[in-house]
Amino acid sequence: MIMEKSGKRWKLVLGLVIVLAGIGGVTAWYKFFREVPDGPFASADERFMYGSIGGENAAGIPYWIYAVLPRMFPEYLPGPGGYASLGIAWEEGREMPVGFTKKVVGFPRVSNTCAVCHTASYRASADSTPRFVAAGPGHTSNVQGFFRFLRDCVNDPRFNPDNLLDEIKLLTDLSFLDRLLYRFIIIPFTKKALLERNFDWMEREDMAAWGHGRDDAMNLTKYFMLEMDEDGTFGPTDFPSIWNLKKYRPEQGMRMNWDGATWNARSVLIDSALGIVAEPQNDFLEQMDWLLEYLGNLPPPKYPFPIDAALALEGRPLFESECARCHQSERTGKRIPLAEVGTDENRILSWSHEAAKAANKKALELGVERRGMIEDEPLDGYIAVHLDGIWLRAPYLHNGSVPTLADLLKPVSERPVFFYRGYDLYDRVNLGFVSDGAVAERVGNRHDTRLRGNGNQGHEYGLTLSAAEKLALIEYLKTL
Ligand code: HEC
Ligand code: HEC
Repeated sequence: MIMEKSGKRWKLVLGLVIVLAGIGGVTAWYKFFREVPDGPFASADERFMYGSIGGENAAGIPYWIYAVLPRMFPEYLPGPGGYASLGIAWEEGREMPVGFTKKVVGFPRVSNTCAVCHTASYRASADSTPRFVAAGPGHTSNVQGFFRFLRDCVNDPRFNPDNLLDEIKLLTDLSFLDRLLYRFIIIPFTKKALLERNFDWMEREDMAAWGHGRDDAMNLTKYFMLEMDEDGTFGPTDFPSIWNLKKYRPEQGMRMNWDGATWNARSVLIDSALGIVAEPQNDFLEQMDWLLEYLGNLPPPKYPFPIDAALALEGRPLFESECARCHQSERTGKRIPLAEVGTDENRILSWSHEAAKAANKKALELGVERRGMIEDEPLDGYIAVHLDGIWLRAPYLHNGSVPTLADLLKPVSERPVFFYRGYDLYDRVNLGFVSDGAVAERVGNRHDTRLRGNGNQGHEYGLTLSAAEKLALIEYLKTL
């Protein structure tokens, strides 16, 4: 009887435990893992600019922390205006900047997408609103500024649950349970994850700032993703345009990335995405297929201002005699030896076959099959890039060291020694962005070509053209 009674009681207790655990489990799942799909998006461009590629799960920042940081730590941003001071493209009326997602995975989280570096913005005149071009170079985005901001916030003692929750309270009413979760799990966890990130490698004295529109791409891969040892190299690179990817024909020997370190578009997309999402989700390869299809077929944007058709026609034979042997020939999309093109060598020095092997191994470990990074061909030059949509790809060369197309047609001795990157006002005369004057100085960063990795040497072509011929060539370049 007693036995039976205690047996019944046990069953009751056990039942209760199971029910409670069930509720706890469901709550935990609901609060941490329940995914609410984002979208729908009005267009493919919009999906590219704002749609999640899965970075929220393993690498997202809790939305409410993201929301209060600029108010709590304005001194760690480069200027007033919150995240906008980082130059990231931001459409009027949008809650999130371009390339920033907001998605519920248990709780609302923020992550990044390709678009933070691969969406261009430009303005036709100083008082007009910016236009945004998906898959264009994000020449205004200050990615290093964003990393530095996160690092400085999390290292500040004020980054603690009491202060953060006080600030969050000014913006929203979290439920009692959510406040507990933020206090005991979400904030400490975020702090730990950010503190574990090694940002030191990008702060050496002999390295210039990446500035707007650039990052130290291969070192980011080596140190963030592959956790390789620092090797002292510094290879700042301009964000490229990534439209019209179907122009790359690997079977014809074309390669991708500035130095041709990668076989094909699918590999680049996957590697770029792995850098963002950290842990690929179930739909990862589907996302990649979508990106490949979208970017493969996306046409380059047409020059949006008037073109003098007769002048452009005069420029065409000049292009054919001076430029086409690399930019519209069997050499296009292929490596031109550094000894021949003569541009800054630092980007090439920042990548190696050893790093390629590590990257390929890592992708396999993450369960992703792709052709991968090149492990055998010599990486001794820069790709003679396709020039589609070249009007929007300033500043020019792999390190963004020449502000305009007009400057690129000058001998090195006459190119600007320093200028300001990051202003979005378009310069229709020289083709590029306005790179001096008060506003350019205020919103941009000074690019000093004398610093390591910033050199503007080499690529001296078309120098023998007369001033009138250069004007005609520039007119023709508008049509590409
Ligand atoms: C933090 C900035 C950043 C992000 C985010 C980023 N990229 Fe890039 N991307 C770059 C830079 C810089 C390069 C040039 C790398 C090099 O060769 O030095 C590049 C190169 C590329 C290229 C090669 C272009 C060519 O012509 O060879 C493609 C394609 C590309 N990225 C696609 C993507 C996609 C797709 C995503 C999102 C899944 C993405 N990138 C995310 C900065 C970024
Ligand atoms: C011998 C081959 C060769 C010739 C000739 C040549 N280029 Fe290039 N071009 C390259 C290479 C290689 C690069 C990439 C170099 C780098 O970024 O360091 C490049 C880069 C460029 C870029 C920068 C692209 C970007 O996205 O920043 C432009 C613009 C350009 N070339 C225009 C021209 C024009 C215009 C001519 C003719 C006057 C010309 N090139 C002649 C090989 C050549």
